Amino acid sequence: MINRTRRLRKTENIRRLVRENKLTIDDLIYPLFIEEGENIEKEIVSMPGIKRWSLDRISKELDEVVALDIPAVLLFGIPTAKNETGSETWNDKGIMQQAVRFIKKNYPSLYVITDVCFCEYTSHGHCGIIHENDVDNDATLPNIAKQVISHAKAGVDMVAPSGMMDGMIATIREALDNTGFPNLPIMSYAVKYSSAFYGPFRDAADSAPTFGDRRTYQMDPANRDEGMREATFDDQEGADILMVKPALAYLDIIRDLKNNFDRPIACYNVSGEYAMIKAAAANGWIDEERVMMESLLSMKRAGADIIITYFAKDVAKVLLKK
Ligand code: PBG
Repeated sequence: MINRTRRLRKTENIRRLVRENKLTIDDLIYPLFIEEGENIEKEIVSMPGIKRWSLDRISKELDEVVALDIPAVLLFGIPTAKNETGSETWNDKGIMQQAVRFIKKNYPSLYVITDVCFCEYTSHGHCGIIHENDVDNDATLPNIAKQVISHAKAGVDMVAPSGMMDGMIATIREALDNTGFPNLPIMSYAVKYSSAFYGPFRDAADSAPTFGDRRTYQMDPANRDEGMREATFDDQEGADILMVKPALAYLDIIRDLKNNFDRPIACYNVSGEYAMIKAAAANGWIDEERVMMESLLSMKRAGADIIITYFAKDVAKVLLKK
């Protein structure tokens, strides 16, 4: 037989030589939930191993992240006070701004990215200003600008807008350029679907909408071509990194972006993807380590350069062991 694909599978050493993709610690971003207040270290029930932290307690977690050589963290803030506009997001003394200053001061080597959104900060849980029962796109844009400028002044390394407002990348780029931050990069949640996989996150971050859903701004899971359109606009508006979210159910979209854009591609391995593996493993139904590694590797194979994942510490431990 001329063709026998099994010849190159015979031993681990030959498999190593022909292996096409590799998951490394360099690929990982670890999300952190930071709650305003003191003495908070609260387990999130649906996300075993993930906690909400107040800043006075979080050093334990950050020490571990640095020791495991994870390059970056993505911050989510949970404020004590919410209101209609989410104005705490641009308070220079807000929880996100405090967190950025704290981490950059005490862990200068760690790359700090902030999630730029309003849903954790608005009384209605939507990602912007509400007008006639829907998020008003253009009224929200100036507030996004205020929020990123405030994060920038606090010393963040990169901003990651996740609200799916049209024109948000152009707005942010212009705001940063005009305030002395032309070198601050933007990682856009460019192709973000209206997904049930965010369920556990909304408990973790207290960000579930109090009415309706996010289908007027997040994408329809049925659409693929539209993902290209979203990514094209964000690319043109100056996004430095394009993200697809969720990851596992959207590997085709990750590959589309990889094939069509000359920008680093990120994907977000979201809370529901994490919860499913943890729950099945807790029942003894799957091998947690292997399913975790295989899932994340599939994202690399699909074309992701960067993976945002709650598994970052678990993965780093596996990789350091090898
Ligand atoms: C906020 C935001 C969400 C997630 C990241 N940023 C929730 C949402 O859009 O409802 C989800 C992350 C996850 O599920 O892990 N806009």
